[in-house]
Amino acid sequence: SVTKKVCLLPGDGIGPEIVAEAVKVLKALQLPLEFETALLGGAAVDATGEPYPEATQTLAREADAVLLGAVGGPKWDTLPRPQRPERGLLAIRKDLNLFANLRPAILYDELAAASTLKPEVVAGLDILIVRELTGDIYFGEPRGIEMRNGERVGFNTMIYSEAEIRRIGRIAFEAARKRRKHLCSVDKMNVLETTQLWRDVMNELAPEYPDVTLTHMLVDNAAMQLVRAPKQFDVIVTGNMFGDILSDEAAMLTGSIGMLPSASLNETGKGLYEPCHGSAPDIAGQGVANPLATILSAAMMLRYSFGWEDPARAIERAVQKVLAQGLRTRDIAAPGDTVVGTAAMGDAVVAALA
Ligand code: NAD
Ligand code: IPM
Ligand code: MN
Repeated sequence: SVTKKVCLLPGDGIGPEIVAEAVKVLKALQLPLEFETALLGGAAVDATGEPYPEATQTLAREADAVLLGAVGGPKWDTLPRPQRPERGLLAIRKDLNLFANLRPAILYDELAAASTLKPEVVAGLDILIVRELTGDIYFGEPRGIEMRNGERVGFNTMIYSEAEIRRIGRIAFEAARKRRKHLCSVDKMNVLETTQLWRDVMNELAPEYPDVTLTHMLVDNAAMQLVRAPKQFDVIVTGNMFGDILSDEAAMLTGSIGMLPSASLNETGKGLYEPCHGSAPDIAGQGVANPLATILSAAMMLRYSFGWEDPARAIERAVQKVLAQGLRTRDIAAPGDTVVGTAAMGDAVVAALA
């Protein structure tokens, strides 16, 4: 059928507030969409004892796409690890095989002053971070905390197979091909064998994409280059953990972490869409969170899972228009801007769609 089923997972903290605004925008577009809501994270632990309960698994597997807010918060920080909200997020990513995480860091001209960097350093910024999402030290075994020689030791395993590296590499090369044709692979091959393999496999793929220039950078240098001269990057491809860290850093180049959307995809086009930020417990329930990262994630959903380019663009244009009107949530406000709350920002985007 033409009707697409969207599974909503509002989650915890500001999650429900920002997902409500994205749904508002999607509904205003009057697309053939059907929404169903399920529990994930702390909200799910409270209701069922599990962060990714069976009912959510069923709904997420059946849906054409998933739109997620955020999970986690101090309330659940002392729970045993398997019951932590974050485990629910990792579990759904693994369950749906969402190995390719696209995190576009785009600076809207109107927000040049909101970045903590000088406007000339960030003006026109348009980077795509391709983060591997179902492997690396996040999932490697063995892992744990145990007694050795009379003291506790903690350990995790950083591991990638060449097949895992190859499939994320292909996604990144293809993405670069559609952009400015420059791919920078980020690793720590000077120290870590797993990332030596990462670099080798990226080099082996390169001849298949002669139109794309592949370069390599060590992750510590990449972190530095991102704030020194971020516009040198087009597409960055990296592993799960380095990608997590570098994407938060890249978010600040765009003015606020509240601006960075993401798509997590598998080979079938099925996707999960979520802002890159977390549940922001410090501002939850106050109606001040920036919903734009979630609204822009909804636009990515229309584009990547449903192939609906026009309404996706319409949302992105509406966001730009609202920013041009000077409307700002607190996190992106500069002196002289009109500061609005979460719901008013969502309303403004809806109004700007017209
Ligand atoms: P965070 O991203 O939740 O918050 C970091 C800072 O950014 C806070 O000051 C917060 O107020 C601000 N912020 C984040 N999103 C914002 C928005 N939309 N508008 C305005 N300000 C925003 O990171 P944290 O504080 O390290 O983590 C809080 C919880 O979220 C933890 O439990 C963590 O595990 C979880 N987390 C979840 C996800 C996810 O669900 N994808 C991602 C990151 C962190
Ligand atoms: C993110 C988050 C998650 C991650 C956490 C909450 C598991 O930080 O989506 O960036 O590390 O992947
Ligand atoms: Mn993160």
